[in-house]
Amino acid sequence: MTNATDSATPPPAPPRTVSRSRPARNGRISWVVVALTSLAIVGYVIATYAQGSLATLAQNEAGLATAYADRAAPVRAAFYAHIIFSALALGIGPVQFAGTVRRRRPRLHRWVGRVFLISVAIGSVSSLIMACFNTAAINGFFGFGSLAVLWGWTAWRGWRAIRAGDHLSHQAWMIRCFALTYAGVTLRLWLGILIGVQLPFAGPTVDAERVFDTAYAVLPFLCWLPNIVVAELLLRRRGLPSLALTPSRTASSGTDRRPPGVSAR
Ligand code: HEM
Repeated sequence: MTNATDSATPPPAPPRTVSRSRPARNGRISWVVVALTSLAIVGYVIATYAQGSLATLAQNEAGLATAYADRAAPVRAAFYAHIIFSALALGIGPVQFAGTVRRRRPRLHRWVGRVFLISVAIGSVSSLIMACFNTAAINGFFGFGSLAVLWGWTAWRGWRAIRAGDHLSHQAWMIRCFALTYAGVTLRLWLGILIGVQLPFAGPTVDAERVFDTAYAVLPFLCWLPNIVVAELLLRRRGLPSLALTPSRTASSGTDRRPPGVSAR
């Protein structure tokens, strides 16, 4: 039998250190994986494209040099601008998500942020030009083209949000923007996976070009669509303003559950 004092006693608090530290540790591990894979792709870009002129690289059949070496000067310029500034954005992007940097070095966060946004702006315009000449034809035009537009747009929204002092929206847009930047990594991961799954069915004499082309055909969309879905799930989990496909019950009942400072955009 319980008396009044017993029922008023609050239940013991859950072990907060355990439940808090696990997500924090998982978050740190994910950050390290993202940072290292991003740096690996930056390393690949430097190792592949810093070895000589586009003509020399084309002779050595390095990367996609053969596809761009004979193009008009503006397209070649877009190619270089793309690989330099996209690689820069990918390389420095993870710094912005390190909580320690944001908290203890806000000036560094601001400066890296400016370089990131300028890199994305140049990377996005140059990607759009390249999307018109890409090697995946119409798939590439639409897939890479929409990625280029969304990449620039998310960066723009992130910049506008912070100028308006809306920190939560800024975080949300920058998470989306980096998820799209990370397409530079996921494209290459998917390429490896899609080539790998075809090999057991490719027969005794593997037509390498066909296997590659089949894999590459879906990459202009596959390299970024899952990233943006993962970004939205992450935003929801962190309670940041995320995409609402249906009006929430609380919103229709007039209660706004958005965290303070988040506008209704
Ligand atoms: C996020 C938006 C991005 C878009 C819209 C985009 C678009 C493109 C397009 C259209 C091509 C030409 C593909 C072809 O001709 O088949 C290309 C190639 C390339 N992109 Fe991106 N890209 C993006 C991000 C990145 C990032 C973050 C990197 C970072 C390193 C990167 C590095 C490269 C490289 C090195 C190539 C040459 C192909 C190769 O050697 O793998 N891109 N990109």
